[in-house]
Amino acid sequence: MADVTEDVLRAAVIIGSTRDGRFGPVVADWIAGHITRREDMAVDLVDLVETPLPTVFPAFGQAPSDEVVAQLGAVSPRLARADAFVIVTPEYNHSFPAPLKNAVDWHNEQWHAKPVGFVSYGGLAGGLRAVEQLRVVLAELHAVTIRNTVSFHNYGEAFGADGKPYDSACDVAAKAMLDQLTWWGQALREARRVRPYGV
Ligand SMILES: Cc1cc2nc3c(=O)[nH]c(=O)nc-3n(C[C@H](O)[C@H](O)[C@H](O)COP(=O)(O)O)c2cc1C
Repeated sequence: MADVTEDVLRAAVIIGSTRDGRFGPVVADWIAGHITRREDMAVDLVDLVETPLPTVFPAFGQAPSDEVVAQLGAVSPRLARADAFVIVTPEYNHSFPAPLKNAVDWHNEQWHAKPVGFVSYGGLAGGLRAVEQLRVVLAELHAVTIRNTVSFHNYGEAFGADGKPYDSACDVAAKAMLDQLTWWGQALREARRVRPYGV
């Protein structure tokens, strides 16, 4: 993420799918475009394909290997720097994809007292079951999840070849979610500065 002024909110958009041939980047690029066009937000697109993390964790109290430290170095500082997150997730077997949960689990303070918004996609349910389960996971990590969600049901029919949704209501929904994310992001950033979160 480029250097941004103090009043601009740094939002990390996380692409939750790592599948070969995945659709996720289409959705992520669309919401990242919305963020880029706002004057009050800046975007960092975190693609879990480019920042793979192992699924084997070190024992409690044991430091990760140098290789894992290097892998974490490609993603953890970016999550730490973010004031807010947008998770772009499909639905796998009525839940979130395993690589997304793995990336969540490798981190802790990076999520604390920060807001998380969601853009989901899937079949008839539009990925919403993944979102509702992520809310439970992120509450454990002291994150605040945003009420409004943007979801695409039957996602394969929702986007044109230009990567934009056919239905302009999706842009209205994106703005509403990002407005809420910005409110919480600014409020929590100010609060963390006055009173560092440590409870
Ligand atoms: C392992 C797996 C499980 C899936 N389970 C669901 C599901 O429960 N609900 C759903 O709407 N779509 C499901 N799908 C279909 C996905 O919505 C679709 O494959 C979508 O393209 C996945 O996102 P991606 O292409 O970015 O990986 C599943 C796909 C996979 C690969």
